[in-house]
Amino acid sequence: MTQPKSMRLDRLLANLGYGSRREMQMLARNGWIKLDGQALRGIDQRVPLTREFAARLNIDGEAIDPIPGLVLMLRKPVGVTCSHKEAGELVYRLLPERWRRRDPAISTVGRLDKETSGLLLMTDDGAFLHKVIAPRAHIPKRYLATLESPLRGDEGGVFASGTLMLEGEEKPLLPAFFEIISPCEAAVTITEGRYHQVRRMFAAVHNHVKALQRVSIGGLNLPDDLEPGAFRVLDERQCAAIFAGAAASSGHSG
Ligand code: URA
Repeated sequence: MTQPKSMRLDRLLANLGYGSRREMQMLARNGWIKLDGQALRGIDQRVPLTREFAARLNIDGEAIDPIPGLVLMLRKPVGVTCSHKEAGELVYRLLPERWRRRDPAISTVGRLDKETSGLLLMTDDGAFLHKVIAPRAHIPKRYLATLESPLRGDEGGVFASGTLMLEGEEKPLLPAFFEIISPCEAAVTITEGRYHQVRRMFAAVHNHVKALQRVSIGGLNLPDDLEPGAFRVLDERQCAAIFAGAAASSGHSG
């Protein structure tokens, strides 16, 4: 999806979830929508869809929400599902209520399973989403796994081999990079996104993952000071970091 370059202001605010276009017109008539601190009585003019312009706007004294083209990182807690419709706690509930009414809607960039925590990207930008999850993108994703049994010592070789076949699949896994952290902890970097891939890789070497956390996607690391359930909007530099190293990683061992 390519974002338009400009949009009527009433439509932009309605698309951000503030209310209907009619309600936006009412807010404007009451002087609640301001540009550079001056009340805007008419909001049917087209405005540039840039972060610089959006920074000049406020509603009822508050900066407006991030404009379309939003990418954020969230520290997903254990027990939360990456889905719009399943029962239980959903990752979308961790976002501000108004953000759930945005058009285009915000989606997760791939998924983490319910019991996996850590770095989850979310975006309303379909083109960005596909660029990250496209199978040929080979963006490295690093996970920390806590294991039930001590490592045997041969896992690195098995994971790097490019021949490991997961149960029920027909194509072997691409080589993955493996680091031992302690007898029952390891880091694994994969460049694919198969179903429950890391858990199934350890099952293939007769171990069991007790806890799994994603700590980086490409060159973007999960910040230590981001609390479970909290999120941060990414700037352009952080978005670009996601793709750093992706080309070097394709068809290799990581
Ligand atoms: N591998 C898993 O097993 N689970 C995830 O959520 C991601 C990778």
